[in-house]
Amino acid sequence: MTIPSVVTSKSEAETSDIGKQFAGQLRRGDIVGLFGELGSGKTRFVQGVCAGLQVDEPVISPTFTLVNQYTGYNGEGRTLQIQHIDCYRLTSIDELIEIGMDEMLSSNDICLIEWPQLVEPLIPDTYWKIVIESGRNENLRTIHIERSFVGGHDDSRY
Ligand SMILES: Nc1ncnc2c1ncn2[C@@H]1O[C@H](COP(=O)(O)OP(=O)(O)OP(=O)(O)O)[C@@H](O)[C@H]1O
Ligand SMILES: [Mg+2]
Repeated sequence: MTIPSVVTSKSEAETSDIGKQFAGQLRRGDIVGLFGELGSGKTRFVQGVCAGLQVDEPVISPTFTLVNQYTGYNGEGRTLQIQHIDCYRLTSIDELIEIGMDEMLSSNDICLIEWPQLVEPLIPDTYWKIVIESGRNENLRTIHIERSFVGGHDDSRY
């Protein structure tokens, strides 16, 4: 997958597949922010990412739990911890701190964050920005994938 990318998805299975392909880009400690309206497909995308990282348990929405954790594997078969976070119900930085956002962001875990608007100021440097837009028909989505440089630094790995 070349980055930045703009891809069209015509079904939830396609969105999941795009997430699965994108997972190949991820490295330990990466942060992924998923933007898009309610029901746009952020969780479907995350399910694909987790499939790509060989998570072998069901990936369900953290709507109520706020954070779900999974174990996956990178390309070399090394273990990765994955944090799937949903910030929709959170309204203050204090609440983010309470759920351990600071630790998660500075850890080696992969953080997949739905509704990340509130989190953006806490992101140290660079993150993957995924924006899912709904299309003209019910199943159509446009998915934007890019690296976002919070502090304006260059990130030589990419
Ligand atoms: N192309 C598509 N990609 C993803 N989901 C699709 C697509 N077409 C239809 N859908 C439907 O849209 C819904 C997406 O749900 P999902 O839980 O992934 O959304 P979400 O963005 O995580 O929402 P929330 O903000 O509530 O967490 C599902 O019901 C899915 O069947
Ligand atoms: Mg969701």
